Amino acid sequence: MSEEALLHAAGIGKVFRTWKRRPGLAGFVLDFVKRDRREVVALAEVELRIGRGEFVGLIGANGAGKTTLVKCLTGITPVTSGRATMFGRDSFHLRDEHKRRLAIVMGQRSQLWWDLPAIDSFRLLREIYSVPSAAFEARIADSAARLDVTDKLTRQLRQLSLGERMKMEIIGAFLHEPDVVFLDEPTIGLDLLSRETIRRYLVEINRQRGVTIVLTSHDMEDIEETCRRLVILRAGRVLFDGELADLKARVYDRRSIELHLEPQSRTWQPELAARIALHSATLERSAPMSLVFSVPAANVQRFVPLLFELFDVRDLSIERQPLEHLIRQIFQGQDPQREAPGG
Ligand SMILES: Nc1ncnc2c1ncn2[C@@H]1O[C@H](COP(=O)(O)OP(=O)(O)OP(=O)(O)O)[C@@H](O)[C@H]1O
Ligand SMILES: [Mg+2]
Repeated sequence: MSEEALLHAAGIGKVFRTWKRRPGLAGFVLDFVKRDRREVVALAEVELRIGRGEFVGLIGANGAGKTTLVKCLTGITPVTSGRATMFGRDSFHLRDEHKRRLAIVMGQRSQLWWDLPAIDSFRLLREIYSVPSAAFEARIADSAARLDVTDKLTRQLRQLSLGERMKMEIIGAFLHEPDVVFLDEPTIGLDLLSRETIRRYLVEINRQRGVTIVLTSHDMEDIEETCRRLVILRAGRVLFDGELADLKARVYDRRSIELHLEPQSRTWQPELAARIALHSATLERSAPMSLVFSVPAANVQRFVPLLFELFDVRDLSIERQPLEHLIRQIFQGQDPQREAPGG
């Protein structure tokens, strides 16, 4: 990251201006006279630099601004404030020679032709990007083998399963050997095996070719198994930006304790928060019959007796805290180890 950033969001903001339609004829007239305008702040002061060869995971709840950030960085949509650049140039005014160094895969949209077999779509892409024939054949063969769709290349796209189609999209995206690839929820709705195959492909291509990858996913396993750096957005702002390994190191310092309670036993009460806080423990989840706490590994021994004192415990299990819990805490602005949670 020492060289100039390949991608740079320099304090970008994005506001969508929409207006609400009012019901009925009176509403129609009212709308005509004066629209009920709304502003949605999708991104606010986002500062982000991404260098060559990085593999960045972009996560956040629905509506956090992930897709908008991808669109701003890639120049699909203009920013409202700040500046988005790619290859040192304004993203919204990229020249064709720069656009060809970029690829975007969106889980919901296809860049391939629905009625054509994938191989024919790839041939069209080869023309568009003027990929030499021999290189083209070699890349297709290699990618299709790695993604396990060699025998599906000649089938009409509309006849393929969701996972096979996504794999074709990915082959198409990497065909012209772009320098930067954005993938917005590429594994949405796919089975475990397809997800694993896609993850492995992305990791290999990132390592072998040094292509910069920005991946958005709601599947934490996608992120854990591919990315080195994690960016968390919340309500249009960057909440966390750091090495995944650092985050994991913190996870391994904590334990997740799950309690199953006897029927009719006393369950969680808010006033207990102060008592468990003495052990630096937090309540992760509470259901009528079960509670999940997070506690530093070093405090487990003293914390467990307290649980027995407070509740009628039927069963108890202690596990390493899954990364998801920590991320949920960060989402909720309760990351216990950060100074100014929630920004
Ligand atoms: N074209 C648009 N017009 C108006 N508002 C929009 C538009 N696109 C996005 N928004 C709003 O901007 C905010 C961010 O949306 P965005 O699609 O970037 O979220 P996201 O993080 O990708 O969510 P998801 O996980 O659901 O894909 C949301 O409040 C959304 O409703
Ligand atoms: Mg999205």
